Order: sequence, then structure tokens, then C-alpha cells
Amino acid sequence: MQAQRYLIHLAHEKLEFRIPELESIAQLFGKQLGNIWDKRFLSYNARNGDGDIAAQLEMGGSLRSHTEEDGTRCPYIVFQDVNEDDIRNLMSRSVFGKQAYEIWGHGPDYDSLKTSIMKYSSEVKQKYFSYENSFCIRVKASGRKISLKEQIMKIESLQGQLPFAGAVNLNNPSNEFHVIEDYGSFSGKKILHPKYVYFGRLITDGQRSLISNYSVKQRKFIGNTSMESGLSLIMSNLAKVKNGDYICDPFVGTGSLLIAAAHFGGFVTGGDINYNILHSRGKSSRVGAGYREKDETIHNSLRQYSLGDKFVDVLLHDAARNAWSYRERKTNGVFDAIITDPPYGIREGCRKVGTAKEPLTDFSEFEVHHPERTAYHLNHVYSDLLTFASSTLVPGGRLVYWIPIYRPEYAEENIPSHPNLKLVYNCEQPLKKETSRRLIVMEKLNVSCQGSGAVNMKMFSGHNAFRDKYFKVSKE
Ligand SMILES: C[S@@+](CC[C@H](N)C(=O)[O-])C[C@H]1O[C@@H](n2cnc3c(N)ncnc32)[C@H](O)[C@@H]1O
Repeated sequence: MQAQRYLIHLAHEKLEFRIPELESIAQLFGKQLGNIWDKRFLSYNARNGDGDIAAQLEMGGSLRSHTEEDGTRCPYIVFQDVNEDDIRNLMSRSVFGKQAYEIWGHGPDYDSLKTSIMKYSSEVKQKYFSYENSFCIRVKASGRKISLKEQIMKIESLQGQLPFAGAVNLNNPSNEFHVIEDYGSFSGKKILHPKYVYFGRLITDGQRSLISNYSVKQRKFIGNTSMESGLSLIMSNLAKVKNGDYICDPFVGTGSLLIAAAHFGGFVTGGDINYNILHSRGKSSRVGAGYREKDETIHNSLRQYSLGDKFVDVLLHDAARNAWSYRERKTNGVFDAIITDPPYGIREGCRKVGTAKEPLTDFSEFEVHHPERTAYHLNHVYSDLLTFASSTLVPGGRLVYWIPIYRPEYAEENIPSHPNLKLVYNCEQPLKKETSRRLIVMEKLNVSCQGSGAVNMKMFSGHNAFRDKYFKVSKE
């Protein structure tokens, strides 16, 4: 009998982010991805006449190991040593997960697929073959459409192994089955035959629908740099946000990252130096919308999604002198995660409170004092952020943030580091040929918050370092 395995089909986008998302979600549910991901299924991508992989796997054989394929590009992940509930848990959070299946059979071609389906537990299969259960079968492939005629031909070729007695119901079947054809890595040329084929019972969909449910287009309160919903949700997954967590965004802007964190059950807070954005003043970012209306606030955005009860508060603050630090440094951290997108100086300025002039000591002649602002060097933005995270995160809490990259000068060792924070992921999102941004995920070590330690920061030089390079590249 074949061992029970499950397959998750991932969306083919932001490839570097997919495994970190799944790994973080697995940890949330007490599993280690390394222990449940059957990587032997990746072998066919580098295969050169390895023979019948399915048969080798079932005999407990180990396939030729190879190093090229680490799974980053493969949209099909096969799981072992888990049950259906584990798979449902993963899919209850995954933004990359499109569909999950219980695998009934697999093989390098349709003949081996048939043999494999035949060998799958008849006890399991019988339940679904019964007269009372309607069903439907579809043929799917990543990145290509299979014509209806071809689908029917392929489905009919499996009929001998699939004696369904129930009625076919394409719209609302009791159970849905898919033939999944894997054509391997996209090489540009059209490959006629799949490299591997799976047959499985559809268990559940992932959370792709959240991307449109939370789309910034449907939000009243937005800004020039509002983070898109998909990435906001992925950041929350990488931060391992769970019910009841306390989440902070110290560069909160319009609060997109807080909305995603609240969706996953976090209580949210944050701060921004921009008075107008926090107090619904100034011009709206929507074309032709004029001035912001009173209800354009983060709290109202959360209410729009029935998440108003997750709002703690937002502060008008300067991230260079964080408002939480003094009290929290005495405790063992307060935030379960810090999720943020600091300003890079492209679409919004990097400023902090300060003055180049002689600082004032007598404020008596002012009715209202508006503090002056000075340049906030990118080096300091990130060293302050890491220091803040080190002193306010609980042990094991995650800091998830973006950093702009000028690709010709990028070196991994230049990513900011801090003795109390361990680098967990570093995923690139290309922007232009020579610029990109990287999503950095760090985890607070199990150390007391007291000794904040020094930040190692050699990334940027000059206040407008990244901005200058970005616009130089844009003009070329
Ligand atoms: C990239 S935007 C964040 C956008 C936000 N994620 C959203 O979805 O709307 C960076 C934010 O940092 C704020 N900011 C700039 N300098 C700051 C400082 N010194 N302290 C706190 N916030 C600052 C800006 O006003 C801006 O709202």
C-alpha cells in the first residue's frame, strides 16, 4: 500500500517567499517543514532517465540526490508524515497555497500513474466511489491551459482505475479530483509531455482570495506607499502572527500591515511622524479626491473589515526616539512581532525630529511648538529599528521589514545585524534592473531585553544614498 501523502500547489509568483511562508506557518502549528516535506519528489526536475520514480519511492528507495533543485522554483510540494488536519492548518493561512490534495497516485507518465492509483488504499478510495457521492475530475497544469478535449481524453484513460458510481456534478460535487500535470521548470520552450503526473482528491483551497478581499483599491484610506494586500498578508505569515499577539508597526503610514496582522488575530499598534496621515488631514492620495475626510483613519480601515476590536492605538512619534522603549526595556519584551516598511526616501521622506541650529531651551514665547525635522540617514533608520526590535520584542518574536537594495553593490553580509537578533529569511523582490528590495525576517534570541547591543550597519552611506542611486539608474 502507498504511504499517505499530500500535495500543495503554490502560486507561481514571488518565488523566494513561498517556502519561507510555508515554513513559518508550519512552525505556527508545531511542525518543522524539513520533517514533513518529501523532497524526493523534486528529483524529476533534474532527472535524466532515473526510471520509475514512483516505484522507487514506494520501495523506500532513495533517489539520486541533486543540489540544483532546492524547491524554490517548484510549485508542487509533497508532504509526508502529516494528516489531513495538518494540511488544512497550512492552507488556513497560506497566501501562496492555491489547492491542497490527498495524493491517490503519481508517476512520470500516465501508465505509472494508473499503477500507482491502483495500489492506493482501496479502503480509502471506496468511500468516494460510492453511489451517494457525486464527483468531478479536472486536469490541471501549472502555467498552461489544457483544452477540454484533451482533458476528457486524459480523464477517460484513467477510468479503469476510478470506478466512480456516483453522478458527475461539475458545479457542486461532493468530491472533486484533479489530475495534476507537472511540466517542470519553465524554460521558455513548449514541453509536450508532463515530466510528472499526480492524481489527487481536492481537500481545500488556500487563502488567495484574501488578496482581493483586502485590496487597497477597495480601501477608503490609502497613501502613496500603502503596502499591497498580498505582501502585507505574507509579511504577517512570516512574522508568525497568531490570535492574541501584540503587533507593532513603527512606520505605520495608512496601516496596511496592521490590517493584515489583525486579520490573523493580532492586536495592533504603531506610530508615524506624519501628523496629517494620522489625523486625516491634508490631500488624499486618490486622484481628484481633494482633502482627506475625517473617517480616513487606520481605525476606520480596520472597522471596514470588522477588525475594529483589534485596534489598540497609533501614536504620532519619531522612530528615532521610540515611545515604547523606556518602559519595555525593563521587561522581557512586549511585542510578539514588529512588521514594518521603513521610508527609503523615494516616495516619502526620511525625516526625524531634530535641528541643525542651536537647540531651543526656552519655549515660553510659543503658544504651540512644532519640532523641527532633520535628515534621517538610512543607516540610522535601520540601526534604530533593530535596536527598537531588540529592546521591545519578546524572545522568539519576529522583526519583518523591507530594505532597499542597489543590486550591483549588494552583499549579504551587509544586511544589518544585531547580536540579539538572528537572521531567519532574506527574500528579494526585484524592482528594476539594478534596484530591488529585500524582505528581512529576524528573530529575537532568548536574551533579556536589557543589553541592546550594537548594530552592525554598513549598508548605506550619505543621507540620500539609495535615493540617489535609484534615480541615477532610472534616468539611464
Ligand atoms: C513606506 S511608508 C509606510 C507605508 C505603510 N506600510 C502603509 O501601508 O501605508 C513609511 C512611513 O514612515 C513614516 N516616517 C518617516 N520618517 C519617520 C520617522 N522618523 N518616524 C516615524 N515614521 C516615519 C512616513 O511618514 C511614512 O508614512
